[in-house]
Amino acid sequence: MLSKKLQEAINEQIKHEFYSAYLYLAMAAHCESVNLPGFAKWLKVQSHEEWTHGMKFYDFLVDRGARVVLLGIPQPPAAYKGMLEMFEEVLAHEKKVTALINRLYELALQEKDYPAQVMLQWFINEQVEEEKSASLVVEQLKMVSEKGGALLYLDRHMAKRGEKD
Ligand code: FEO
Repeated sequence: MLSKKLQEAINEQIKHEFYSAYLYLAMAAHCESVNLPGFAKWLKVQSHEEWTHGMKFYDFLVDRGARVVLLGIPQPPAAYKGMLEMFEEVLAHEKKVTALINRLYELALQEKDYPAQVMLQWFINEQVEEEKSASLVVEQLKMVSEKGGALLYLDRHMAKRGEKD
């Protein structure tokens, strides 16, 4: 039986994952509005991934006979300065999520909940990937001028996400 503490913490994490989905979708909407559909596509794929993360926690609670309680999701910012600033925000956000996952894992250790520990190991690995992919985009954006043709080139590259991996 899942402890009350862990159940509440996982419900909180569902909210954080769905907020991530909402945040990246807001960023995608901004990209569409400034004619960068490739960046928008990348962010929409990312948003969908966050939805699946939220659902992984949801299914885990259901499988353990615990109650899913959906909490309120804050409104994400609607406008962003530029692509570099936006992806620096993505990276900072992912670092925050990593800290939340690590805290959840610590709680699962304290509560001696072994299935939760195994489930969270997937998220610990996933966060390594999440930080790596956001960091790569940040570093590449630093290489190009925001106003140059290189940004358009990079946008085309972003558009290919999901075609082969
Ligand atoms: Fe669900 Fe981007 O971490």
